[in-house]
Amino acid sequence: MTENKVSSYRSFKDKEKPVEVRLSNIIAAKAVGDAVRTSLGPKGMDKMIQTGSGEVVITNDGATILKHMSVLHPAAKMLVDLSAAQDVEAGDGTTSVVVIAGALLGAAEKMLVKGIHPTTIAEAFQRAANKSTEFLTEMSTQIDLSDKNSLLRAASTSLNSKIVSQYSGLLAPIAVDAVLRVIDPATATNVDLKDIRIVKKVGGTIDDTELIDGLVLTQNVVKNSGGPTRIEKAKIGLIQFQLSPPKPDMENQIIVNDYRLMDKILKEERQYLLNMCKKIKKTGCNVLLIQKSILRDAVNDLSLHFLSKLKILVVKDIERDEIEFICKSTGCKPIADIESFAEDKLGYAELIDEVQTSGARVVKITGVKHIGKTVSILCRGANSLVLEEAERSLHDALCVVRCLVKKKALIAGGGAPEIEVSQRLSEYAKTLKGMEAHCFEAFANALEVIPITLAENAGLNPINIVTELRNKHALGEKTAGINVKKVALGFILVVYLFIFLKEVFNIHFYI
Ligand SMILES: Nc1ncnc2c1ncn2[C@@H]1O[C@H](COP(=O)(O)OP(=O)(O)OP(=O)(O)O)[C@@H](O)[C@H]1O
Ligand SMILES: [Mg+2]
Repeated sequence: MTENKVSSYRSFKDKEKPVEVRLSNIIAAKAVGDAVRTSLGPKGMDKMIQTGSGEVVITNDGATILKHMSVLHPAAKMLVDLSAAQDVEAGDGTTSVVVIAGALLGAAEKMLVKGIHPTTIAEAFQRAANKSTEFLTEMSTQIDLSDKNSLLRAASTSLNSKIVSQYSGLLAPIAVDAVLRVIDPATATNVDLKDIRIVKKVGGTIDDTELIDGLVLTQNVVKNSGGPTRIEKAKIGLIQFQLSPPKPDMENQIIVNDYRLMDKILKEERQYLLNMCKKIKKTGCNVLLIQKSILRDAVNDLSLHFLSKLKILVVKDIERDEIEFICKSTGCKPIADIESFAEDKLGYAELIDEVQTSGARVVKITGVKHIGKTVSILCRGANSLVLEEAERSLHDALCVVRCLVKKKALIAGGGAPEIEVSQRLSEYAKTLKGMEAHCFEAFANALEVIPITLAENAGLNPINIVTELRNKHALGEKTAGINVKKVALGFILVVYLFIFLKEVFNIHFYI
């Protein structure tokens, strides 16, 4: 009994363990930050990752790199989650958040070693983060959604640091137009990116990527039964039932030993399918989209034959997750059984056509009734690696424009906001006392990791660059940043800092 008491007393006194755990957590999380550091900025290096299943991914996107890294350490995993959260919320800036979080943890580590209590550090960092958001808001410039140039610059800055950067001149206007078409620029405060569908098709080059006001289906029109492949003034029916003979629910066998009965069964089957096809035609439907079925064949040769005779264009194998977008675009409603097949459930489009573009066939549905509700981007690329990255980059650019719709403000990029905030925080720290001032100073220094990394990745001298930038900001040039591309300075969004600061501090508290 007494022995137990003594040992628990000892474990309370033993302060080694918590410090050790904390430091090991910080080291693991910093390692993650260092892993993605080299891919920050336009001159950052892309990563080639081989996944567990042997698949190869080439990317520059922080969230994608981290998603594929098999991180085991719980603290390191939180940085992966941080990047994923940024991806959901802002889409872009997923590398920056991890790099900054790593730098802040490095700063925290140094202070922990000096003996400052973790809670003091966490609280001071939280306040410094709030202050930084204030400074960022102050230095941002308001924009209007009618100012398309600013939107284009923001989208192409985001694309410039990707593998597909040489196509930013084409992809940025596509991203901006896509967003502007699905919103009302005068009143919009958010964009639902589900209204913009990116359809990937291998073949051609990224140059062939196009924006389509309507819908693109990667499935082909069924042609072997001789039906039409182009329909004007289309009335579209989307069915979720099968156009094939019904099957019993139970597994059983029917033995027919009389040829007349056999004939009768076939006749019944024919009649059953013909009735269904006729009923479809009667409603005026001339385009039939058929959902993929797992129960039995969604459509068989006989019904395809009837449909082609009735001059109905058929596209089969529509995926379950495409249904919602198709309905929204064309105004049709999914039909679950033949009894409820009625005219009011049909959608409308001016033209449905199967076109061949750079070696691939796609079905384009244009001139839809509810124009402006949805748009599709047909994304092309020579192979699946490039295509996947092009899609991710386009998604980032769309997210950037969405951020601008949500928060109509921009700040300059190239390390300018980080240096500015860092300087103003240092100044503010002078008005504080004791430990807090020390923590604010450390926070301010940690932010310089972004310009340092940008310069390092571009092969420039980081010390010279950061000193020069500090000097310029001290003289009041708030937007001075590095331009590693030697083109006019781009802009990054103010939002990403708001978000990451919140996330970073959630992490810090756990540690
Ligand atoms: N021309 C440029 N010169 C200098 N820095 C630039 C330039 N264009 C962009 N940047 C900077 O590059 C950084 C963004 O780099 P990058 O796009 O690789 O990372 P991210 O946006 O944080 O993450 P991701 O795009 O992978 O989600 C920003 O800090 C931005 O200011
Ligand atoms: Mg980016």
